[in-house]
Amino acid sequence: MSGLRSRDYARLGATDHVYLDYTGAGLYAESQLTAHHDLLASRVLGNPHSHNPSSLASTALVEQARSAVLDFLNAFPDEYDVIFTSNATGALKLVGESYPFDEDSCYLVSYDNHNSVNGIREYARRAGATVAYAPVREPDLRLDEAFIDRAFHEHSDCPARLFAYPAQSNFSGVQHPLEWVSRAHDLGWDVLLDCAAFAPTNLLDLSEVKPDFVPLSFYKLFGYPTGLGVLVVRHEALRKLRRPWFAGGTITLASVQGDGWHQLAPGHTGFEDGTVDFLGLPAVTLGLKHLNRIGVDVIHNRVSALAKWLLTAFGALRHTNGAAMVKVFGPQDMDRRGATIAFYLLDPAGTVFDVYRVEKLAGKEHISVRTGCFCNPGDGEVAHHITHTEMADCFAKPSAEVTLTDCQRLIAESTGKAPNTIRASLGIASDFSDVYRFMGFVADFRDRSAQSVGR
Ligand SMILES: Cc1ncc(COP(=O)(O)O)c(C=O)c1O
Repeated sequence: MSGLRSRDYARLGATDHVYLDYTGAGLYAESQLTAHHDLLASRVLGNPHSHNPSSLASTALVEQARSAVLDFLNAFPDEYDVIFTSNATGALKLVGESYPFDEDSCYLVSYDNHNSVNGIREYARRAGATVAYAPVREPDLRLDEAFIDRAFHEHSDCPARLFAYPAQSNFSGVQHPLEWVSRAHDLGWDVLLDCAAFAPTNLLDLSEVKPDFVPLSFYKLFGYPTGLGVLVVRHEALRKLRRPWFAGGTITLASVQGDGWHQLAPGHTGFEDGTVDFLGLPAVTLGLKHLNRIGVDVIHNRVSALAKWLLTAFGALRHTNGAAMVKVFGPQDMDRRGATIAFYLLDPAGTVFDVYRVEKLAGKEHISVRTGCFCNPGDGEVAHHITHTEMADCFAKPSAEVTLTDCQRLIAESTGKAPNTIRASLGIASDFSDVYRFMGFVADFRDRSAQSVGR
C-alpha cells in the first residue's frame, strides 16, 4: 500500500479531507479514471446488440468484465453466472420479482438487512408466501443462531424457501457465519447472501462458500463507476427464477399481433434488460484490477487494525466525571466484525448529542461520517430499543403523512429515545491520519453538554 494514498488518492490530502463513509461509497483511484478515459478515447465502441466491429469490440469488453467478476470472487464459470444490474438494489429486485414465491413458499430474512433486501418481502407477501424475520440480539447485534436453526426446520416443508442475510451488517459491522450457507443448503433453502457491505474489505471466495444469490454494487468496492452492480448467481438457482416481464435484449422472440414472447435461454442475457452499460463496464474490469493489485486481504488487515485502534480509543474516552463519551452499537472489539462502526456520543449526564449536529460539526472540519439509520431499520430498532408498538405508531397514518423525520420525532417525543446513529467506516484508502484526526474531533466533546452543542 505504500505510496497508494499519495499517488492515487491525493485529493484527500489536497482537500484536507477525512473520509469515513466507505460503507456508503468506496473511493476511486485516480489511475482508474485515467485508464478508463484512455480506453474510451482510443476505441470505437458501439451497441453490443449487433455484429459490426464496434459492436463486437463492446461485447468483448462486456465479457471481459463478466470474467473479471468471476475471477475476483474465485467463482467457477460452470457454477456461477454474472448478471449486470444498475446497483446491488437492482440485483436484489431481480431476485425478488423472479423468485418462485407462492402461497406455499417461505422467505426467511434477518433483522439486520438493508431495506433493499427487506423489500423482497413485499414480493413474497403479494404471492401469499410466509415471511419470517430472524432477530438480532443485544449487545452485539448478532443473529440468534438457535432461532435461525429452528426456522430452517420449521419451514422445511415450503417447496421454495429463500433465506436472506448480510455477510456484514452495514449498520453494526457484524459479520455473520458464512457456514450458514451450506447449512441452509443442506436443509433445502436457497440463500441470498448480501455482500454489498462485506466485499469491499473482505475476501469472498465462491469456490468455498456457495450462496445462490450475491448482490454487489461496484462503487462500494472501488468508487467508480456508479450506476453498475451485479447479481452473481448459481446457474442452478438462476434456472428457478421466472421473469415477470420481457424487455429488449432478454428475448428470442416477441410479437404484437401474435401476443407472445419467448425468453432467451436461462442465463444472464435473459436478465439484463435493454442495453448494458457497455462503456461503464470496462471501468469495472479496471476497478477490479486495481483492487487485485492492492489485495483485498491487505485492505482487510489495514482497516481491521485501524478499526481496532478506533474502538479501543472510543472505549477509553471519558468525561471528567468518569462517564463514557461514546456508545458503540454492536461488537466492541474486532471479533467477527468489519471496519464499520455505529455509535453515538454522550455528554457527561448521558444525554445523546444530536447526530445531525455532530455530522455538521464534523463537516466543518472536513470529516465525512454518515448519520441516520443507513437503510437498516432492524439493527437500528434493536440498538435503540424501539418496540413493535412504538414503530406501529409511525404506520397508523397514511404514508404520505408520516416521513422518516416525523417518525423519529414521534418516537423521540413519546419515549425520549434517540433513534439515530453515527457511522464511521473505513476502506480502501483509509490510513492512520484519518482515525487519529477523527478521534481528536470526538475527544473535543469532553465535558460539553448536549444542550450547549445544540441541534
Ligand atoms: C448491505 C447493503 N446491501 C445493499 C445495499 C444497496 O446498495 P445500492 O444502494 O448500491 O443499491 C447497501 C447500500 O448501502 C448495503 O449497504
